[in-house]
Amino acid sequence: MPSTTAERVLTVGVVRETAPRERRVALDPEVTKRLVASGHTVLVERGAGEAASLPDAAYGLAGACVVSRAEVVATCDVLAVVRPPDAALVASLRAGQLLIGVLEPLLNVSMVRDLAARQVTAASFDLLPRTLSRAQAMDAGSSQASAAGYRAGIVAAASFDRYFPMMITASGTAAPAKVIVLGAGVAGLQAIGTVKRLGAVVTGYDVRPASRAEVESLGATFLTSSVAEGAAAGGYARALTAEEAVSQQDELARHLVTYDVIITTAKVPGRTPPLLVTAATLAALRPGSVCIDLAATDQRGNVAGSVDGQHVVTSGGVVVIGAGNLASDLATSSSHMYARNVLALLLSLAPAGVVTIDPDDEVHTAVVVCHDGLATHVGTPQAVPSPTESRVP
Ligand code: NAI
Repeated sequence: MPSTTAERVLTVGVVRETAPRERRVALDPEVTKRLVASGHTVLVERGAGEAASLPDAAYGLAGACVVSRAEVVATCDVLAVVRPPDAALVASLRAGQLLIGVLEPLLNVSMVRDLAARQVTAASFDLLPRTLSRAQAMDAGSSQASAAGYRAGIVAAASFDRYFPMMITASGTAAPAKVIVLGAGVAGLQAIGTVKRLGAVVTGYDVRPASRAEVESLGATFLTSSVAEGAAAGGYARALTAEEAVSQQDELARHLVTYDVIITTAKVPGRTPPLLVTAATLAALRPGSVCIDLAATDQRGNVAGSVDGQHVVTSGGVVVIGAGNLASDLATSSSHMYARNVLALLLSLAPAGVVTIDPDDEVHTAVVVCHDGLATHVGTPQAVPSPTESRVP
């Protein structure tokens, strides 16, 4: 955070998110105040923070100008978003503007090309080198996964028709709930901590051996696959082969039927999430069991048949909740954390109030997906042509 007035003044804008079920907002009044104190101008679309319980008046008090969406987009130098912009928003951006968000460039190749064609500079949080210590304040992937993991623990407890903790009362004793969390990354560890605090007996499962110590440090039991060790570069999991995946499912099924609640968070960057809870496993779970699938997408997640945003009860009485965007359900806290991540990345990309992409800066080269008419991201060779090939005429 700069303690002195910025050398150049930026106009930073934020718009209301338009994706279905998205309640977060990319800038909050606190970060607005800090930007304004540094001499910048902040433009907020009317109602941008409403769904996150951040009213226009709070932004106004923080020094922002609350204006129309068109005015924000036409006037700002920097536009902060949470989700990838829709086609209408892309079409209204202009040359030289900086767009910051979770843009998912691997999934949105044509959007990246359109942004490049408009000479927009776009930076995407999902490409951040997260293990770099100086990048940690910018790590929206972690801040939002952490919020989602916490919320998963709360949703699990609220969806389960029995106590989570052991209860010894004059009317009898209730056994504690048995919870297993599949995938012990940022979201999984936060879910483990949350259900543990609620009194459940918890197991954490992962294919990365390194996650054992993290799971055990939270007081949970660690379970891993005897089929395959799944560590890959950068601390992420690798995609298992088709054979390994089937063996993993079979082995896991024998454990899963002994649990009351299953929270799944397993992901492999750039790939569809692995199927860990099969239809056969779901059918074998006891009525009243709960599965919360944080890896759910529109197509597929870790649980057979789970679809993002859908809550179903199987014919066997198992509750399956497709919860691919639980950070949005914790909209205020998630937005506060996200806004700080935006500020940290903005200060890296525009330290003196001028957007300066440094080709020797590891953070810049990783997060910038297009700049100066070029689709620059080196991590998407199949998705986006190399800079020399991709100059937009
Ligand atoms: P993620 O969201 O990509 O995946 C979630 C979890 O699913 C991971 O732990 C992964 O190992 C697991 N998984 C994938 N396939 C699986 C399978 N078939 N069966 C069981 N589990 C499976 O992971 P996330 O949360 O983004 O974290 C990835 C790694 O990066 C972790 O090691 C995390 O601790 C590390 N990290 C390090 C940071 C730092 O050094 N500052 C910051 C953020 C993350």
